[in-house]
Amino acid sequence: MPVSRRNFLGSAGALAALELATAPRPGAAAEAASPSIKVGRAKAFKVGVPVQFSYPDAAAPALAIKLSGPVPGGVGPAHDIVAYSQLCVHKGCPVNFNAQREVFMCPCHFTTYDAELSGQVIIGHATTNLPRIRLTYDAASDVVTAVGVDGLIYGRVNNKRMA
Ligand code: FES
Repeated sequence: MPVSRRNFLGSAGALAALELATAPRPGAAAEAASPSIKVGRAKAFKVGVPVQFSYPDAAAPALAIKLSGPVPGGVGPAHDIVAYSQLCVHKGCPVNFNAQREVFMCPCHFTTYDAELSGQVIIGHATTNLPRIRLTYDAASDVVTAVGVDGLIYGRVNNKRMA
């Protein structure tokens, strides 16, 4: 049976749509490999006092902070706990948290990141946000858990677990 141009194009389009619908989401493999790591109990956090942990492995220092108020993406009973990679995206120096301004500041070349706005660069050499550690909160146990990273941690080609 001869295949008309219209039928051929229609079949090709349907095939492409099927492939798109069943293809894994970009980054899904890396995300699937993301570990769940307990950061701490929400009631143990003090406003402005960083809690140090590592995510997704021991070579990736991170800071979790209870901010002075709720922020988009914040977890815990008051939606005010956030976490970020501690490695500046410019050249990898460990950033410090400035509790008065609620920003992360890099001591090497002074890039400053907004802790309330997804680690957005306020000023400095960095060209991307400070990678944000995705957190979940379980109200029953009061536990805050790190479950993923938004952004590329300095010095890596991906955020897959390295250890
Ligand atoms: S390493 Fe942080 S600004 Fe350069």
